[in-house]
Amino acid sequence: MVNSPRHPTFETFIQALRSAWAELPDTEARMKKGQQLLEELVKDESLRRASKSWPSTEGRKNLLFYEDPDYGFAVNGVVRAPGRKGSIHDHAHAWTAYGLLDGTESLERFRRVDDRSQEGYAKLDLESVTEGTPGKVDLVPPFDIHAEQGGPTRSVAVILRSERVAGRVLQGSYSLEGNLYRQIEGPTNIPYEITA
Ligand SMILES: [Fe+2]
Repeated sequence: MVNSPRHPTFETFIQALRSAWAELPDTEARMKKGQQLLEELVKDESLRRASKSWPSTEGRKNLLFYEDPDYGFAVNGVVRAPGRKGSIHDHAHAWTAYGLLDGTESLERFRRVDDRSQEGYAKLDLESVTEGTPGKVDLVPPFDIHAEQGGPTRSVAVILRSERVAGRVLQGSYSLEGNLYRQIEGPTNIPYEITA
């Protein structure tokens, strides 16, 4: 099989991320720069057009576009069916920048209000709901609790993670009904090349 070159905008994004990781001293600074770079990426019309043919990630999957061999950051994709109900979760100790490329979603953020003393129990308050539109990037710090709800049409997001979580460490999963908390495996990563 012949390897096709990467989509040029995506290649530029990866190289800019590698420069940021080389230059900046810590994960927070790198991810804040990564958020800006992702904002530019998810405004790109040619990438939006390319994303129309990306496969659905229904069934707790992520497309894995890239994982950096030196710095460990990873870029994933999520393709949601219209009206998809998103579950409430955190990404453990990893930072995440969640950029909407196509469609709309609502991005919910929660605050944990219990004292964490009871096994399997977590009481959450809904802190904010933001309407996500193409070009918008939400930066999620470690252990921040959130959910992404699908809009009326198919929606596509590109996610920058400070490191790959799925398959490496467990992440938190929450349910408002019954105030439940448990630790679960992250979504299955499906390697997918964004080609020119
Ligand atoms: Fe998330």
